[in-house]
Order: sequence, then structure tokens, then C-alpha cells
Amino acid sequence: HLKGESAETDPKEQIKQVAVYGAGIMGGGIAQVVAQAGYKVTLWDIQQSDIDRGMQTIRNSLERLSKKQEIDPTSVLRRISTTTSQIQAAHAADLVIEAIVEDLKTKQQLLERLDKVAKPSCIFATNTSSLLVRDIAKTVSGARKARTVALHFFNPVAIMQLVEIANADGALLDLLKAFVRDIGKVPVVCRDTPGFIVNRLLVPYNNEARQMVERGDASIEDVDTAMRLGAGYPMGPFELMDMTGIDVGYHIMKGWYEGASGLQGDPRFKPSKEVEQMIKKNHLGHKTGRGYYTYT
Ligand code: CAA
Repeated sequence: HLKGESAETDPKEQIKQVAVYGAGIMGGGIAQVVAQAGYKVTLWDIQQSDIDRGMQTIRNSLERLSKKQEIDPTSVLRRISTTTSQIQAAHAADLVIEAIVEDLKTKQQLLERLDKVAKPSCIFATNTSSLLVRDIAKTVSGARKARTVALHFFNPVAIMQLVEIANADGALLDLLKAFVRDIGKVPVVCRDTPGFIVNRLLVPYNNEARQMVERGDASIEDVDTAMRLGAGYPMGPFELMDMTGIDVGYHIMKGWYEGASGLQGDPRFKPSKEVEQMIKKNHLGHKTGRGYYTYT
């Protein structure tokens, strides 16, 4: 290392066991990339069927990756254990990453419970996409508050290189940056504000695209083609909303509009009747086979 630079912390000295809560698209992806980097992971979800679905997605993803990278899916999978016991997953963890439903109360309740059983040194990280870390941390003890941070990943986790870090400083921030690099990702650091960097910019952008189509200014297909070919984005906004989930985007905006995020009442985030109709019809994007586009 260069003069004046400190040697990078070896994250594996302090983080040996990771517990991931939520075996959905995000939690499963996080468990996968953490295990790929050599950490032992426990993946928790409420029901065995949620875990089974999550593990199948991980197996499929590892299969795709192993065609172009030096990855041995069997040894990665061996490092992931699963449980439906919330407490059991937290006992031995040095780092907890929660990727459960995007609901403040549910996240607070989970962390409150885990706070009582996790080691004092255990770091609590939230993968929230829109809530404030300090709100989620309200139910944990004072000492743990200082160790409750955001580690925010992007979909698809196996491919997207970024992790946003919020609410950490000093040695804890150094450790988290080293951890993020160790799992093959690039960290960025930001303040604890709604949507951090990426979603604070993406959500209004997606919303503008939707309003453009609702006004009849252009078609869904033409807006997507325009942003792919005219702005160089890998996907247009409607393809992206279908991938992340129509319901996910809707709840983020509703939370900002109605909650106490500092963005309440902002007309840009007013819940849309058209989107509510889509949700009622279960047109949630990829995951239900239909959103702005139809998938077979
Ligand atoms: N696991 C393993 N490999 C995967 C994968 C997965 N889950 N998903 C895609 N891949 C691989 C494919 O196999 C493919 O590999 P090859 O190049 O070797 O064939 C490669 O990734 C590219 O995939 P595709 O060819 O299918 O399609 P693409 O070139 O359009 O790439 C994409 C797909 C990476 C998703 C790209 O379109 C993209 O970057 N889109 C934007 C995604 C984005 O903005 N994500 C952020 C959403 S916001 C969010 O996540 C935050 C939140 O809180 C809501």
C-alpha cells in the first residue's frame, strides 16, 4: 500500500458468519454472493417453501455464472445453511443482513428480537430501499444503534456491482467497505436519506416515464427504446419497473408520500390510481408474468 494509506482491514478476521433474513430475490441474492466470497451464511425465512424457492433461484444463478466464471456451485451451496428459526440464525452471526418486507414496523420488530440474542459485536445491516436506517434502528439497544447500518444491494444481486453503505463511520465503515470489496462489489457511501443515491434518482425517473405514457406523449415501447439507445441505459424504465416489481415501486413512493421521511406530500410521489389498478390485477411485472409487458 501507498505511504499514508492504511492497510485494508481483512473483513474475514471480524466477519466469519453472516445471517441473511428474507429468502426473496434480494435476500437470496445476497446470501449467494456472500457465500461465493467464502463466508458461511445462514438464510432465514418464515416458511420452508419460501426458503426452497430462494435456494432454487440461487442454484439457477450459480449455474449461469459457472458457465463463465470459476465457480463451483456445490461448494458455494455447502456454505449456505437455512433455518425457519429467527433466533437460531442470529446466535452465531457477526453480521446480520435483513432483506425482509419493506415495512418499517416489521423490520423494527425483527431487529428488536435479534438484538436480544445476537452477540454485542454483531453488526445489523438493512437492505432497505426507501426507509431510514435510524428509524429501523429505533427498537435496538443504544450500543447496537451505533452498529446498525445500510448495506443496500441491487437487483440482480449476482450481477450488479454496487452496494450503498449508509449510517456507518470510522472503523465500522472501513470494515464494511472491505467486506463489500471482498464479496466482489464496489461500495459507495452516503448519508441516511430516503432512497440513498440510486433509488432517490431512479424512483422519480421511473415515475416521470409513467406519467409521460399516461399523458400520451409516447408509448411504453418507445420510451424504453429511447432510454436504451438515446441514454445508453441497459434497460428502459418500464422494463426496469417490471423487473424490480410494480408493487415495490408503488410502496416506496407511497411510503415517501405518506410517511415521515422528509418527502411527505411531495406531489412527485403521489400514489397513482393507474398503478393501483395494475396491483389489484396482480400485474406486478416479471414475477407474475405480466406488468407493463407480458412474459411467458
Ligand atoms: N444470476 C446470474 N447471472 C445473471 C443473472 C442472475 N440473476 N441475471 C442476469 N445474468 C447474466 C446473464 O446470464 C447474462 O450473462 P452472459 O452475458 O454471459 O450471457 C448477463 O447477466 C446479462 O444478462 P442478459 O443477457 O439476460 O440481459 P442484459 O444484458 O440486459 O442484462 C441486466 C441484464 C444485468 C439486468 C441489465 O439489463 C441491467 O443492468 N439492467 C438494469 C438493472 C438495474 O438498474 N438494477 C437496479 C434496480 S433498482 C434496485 O435493485 C434497488 C431497489 O431497491 C429496488
